[in-house]
Amino acid sequence: MFFDTHAHLNAEQYNDDLREVIDRALEEGVSRIVVVGFDRLTIEKAMELTEQYDFIYASVGWHPVDAIDMTDEDLRWIEELASHPKVVALGEMGLDYYWDKSPKEIQKEVFRKQIQLAKKVKLPIIIHNRDATADIVAILKEEGAAEVGGIMHCFSGSPETAKECVDMNFYISLGGPVTFKNAKKPKEVAEAIPLDRLLIETDCPYLAPHPYRGKRNEPSYVKLVAEQIAEIKGVSVEEVAEMTTANAKKLFGII
Ligand code: NI
Repeated sequence: MFFDTHAHLNAEQYNDDLREVIDRALEEGVSRIVVVGFDRLTIEKAMELTEQYDFIYASVGWHPVDAIDMTDEDLRWIEELASHPKVVALGEMGLDYYWDKSPKEIQKEVFRKQIQLAKKVKLPIIIHNRDATADIVAILKEEGAAEVGGIMHCFSGSPETAKECVDMNFYISLGGPVTFKNAKKPKEVAEAIPLDRLLIETDCPYLAPHPYRGKRNEPSYVKLVAEQIAEIKGVSVEEVAEMTTANAKKLFGII
């Protein structure tokens, strides 16, 4: 069985056929999915999905691109949701220096507040990083994020950075890009990081794996990510599925 640790089934791209998308995931052996909410609308929708499907869990947080919109009330709301039995993590949170909607200083402040909240409610965190590796690693260290640990989501950095994150109690999650022919770094990371620190994800509807690159992604495709990791590591896809599922269950506290 596969565990998709990062899916946005709460995105409008699934408005017309969510049921079919979920059925295809179940047919392919995807038996656990964490739906990630990152603003008011997507958090509400993620929570609804956890009520509708017993194998769907939620992670709730505030995306760095929209950091400028987060109010104290939003943070209190996230804190309330954190005690919901199906909320298994906080995030995605982090830094995104590609888009400039939210100034860096505000992104950092919102990131720090969410790490502090995660420590208070004792939940792991899911990290979004775009062009901001050095600042993310520094903040995780300064805020003592190792206490809760979490996930470097859709990791695209070097094996060295991946190891540094593992040393800070984080798992490395690989998605569609590891299957791209020209993706050197994710393949190196898949090789360098032991299976007991790896997770798999789709980040759907984005980043569909090969041969669906550029199309809408969905949880059933997480199998392609697992197959690529299995090939790189020279192990069976069953072993990758089993280990990454066990890792995710342990991190999220799911039995
Ligand atoms: Ni995401």
